[in-house]
Amino acid sequence: MSKTLLGKVALVAGGSRGLGAAIAQALADQGADVAISYVSSQEKAAAVVELLKAKGVRAIAIQADQGNPAAAEPLISTVVEAFGKLDILVNNAAVAWQGKTIDDPQIDNAAMDQQWMINTMGVIANIRAASKVLSEGGRIISIGSGLGTRIAFRGTTDYAASKAAVVGYSKGAARDLGGRKITVNVVQAGLMDTDMAAGSKGMLPPIIMDSHAIPRFAELSEVAAAVVFLAGPDAGFITGTVIDVNGGFTA
Ligand SMILES: NC(=O)c1ccc[n+]([C@@H]2O[C@H](COP(=O)([O-])OP(=O)(O)OC[C@H]3O[C@@H](n4cnc5c(N)ncnc54)[C@H](OP(=O)(O)O)[C@@H]3O)[C@@H](O)[C@H]2O)c1
Repeated sequence: MSKTLLGKVALVAGGSRGLGAAIAQALADQGADVAISYVSSQEKAAAVVELLKAKGVRAIAIQADQGNPAAAEPLISTVVEAFGKLDILVNNAAVAWQGKTIDDPQIDNAAMDQQWMINTMGVIANIRAASKVLSEGGRIISIGSGLGTRIAFRGTTDYAASKAAVVGYSKGAARDLGGRKITVNVVQAGLMDTDMAAGSKGMLPPIIMDSHAIPRFAELSEVAAAVVFLAGPDAGFITGTVIDVNGGFTA
């Protein structure tokens, strides 16, 4: 079968580990040249770049703090300088600082504000910067969470809302950019066994796993496959929507 993304250039924000590294490799498997960004994991990012190059595509890693919206324009322009264009933006980078209710005297509201900067304002800054240069028919795919739709437990208000805001922004962006055949969508991932969910596999209260129709963690490949589909030629008429890859958590 021919590769669906040959000749395309993708940026995966937060591609140094976890889901982002899996998405970067899945895009490369379909022939895309791939830039990844990271904030602190320089060695892990370099290792991902080597994996991508071994697949026969061009690859670079760029340090860019998504918590600083001013970093978005230089990030996007570095990709365009390196590869000549940008076709696919995947907003994967995020943090999940959870565990305390909003009325808990111990909650760190400065950290909550920073989470909004990374998960929401940084994503918006990436979309704004990319929208100026994306090719006709380009793709913007942001990684959300089932918590963006359904908040099934306490202590996750800011994280969940930071993801829900990206859904709203993506719907508006889909309208704004549809004239250029650019699609804008969100993939709401389920629980995945990454650093973000470190140690929680097998340790979560039954009420959380039981709230999934299929009570297990998602495989990174399952979420990456949805991103590759949305990035590909068969998804050109899918925009302004959410694909849940979370075992029915949001059903
Ligand atoms: N894991 C889950 O259970 C789960 C569930 C639902 C949704 N999600 C979503 O899935 C996505 C990927 O999560 P993951 O589990 O793969 O997370 P992860 O293992 O913690 O990896 C996070 C990635 O984001 C990057 N990143 C974090 N802060 C950044 C910043 N300020 N600037 C630039 N890059 C930054 C990290 O770069 P460095 O390596 O340099 O730190 C890393 O590449 C996120 O959007 C997350 O919200 C995860």
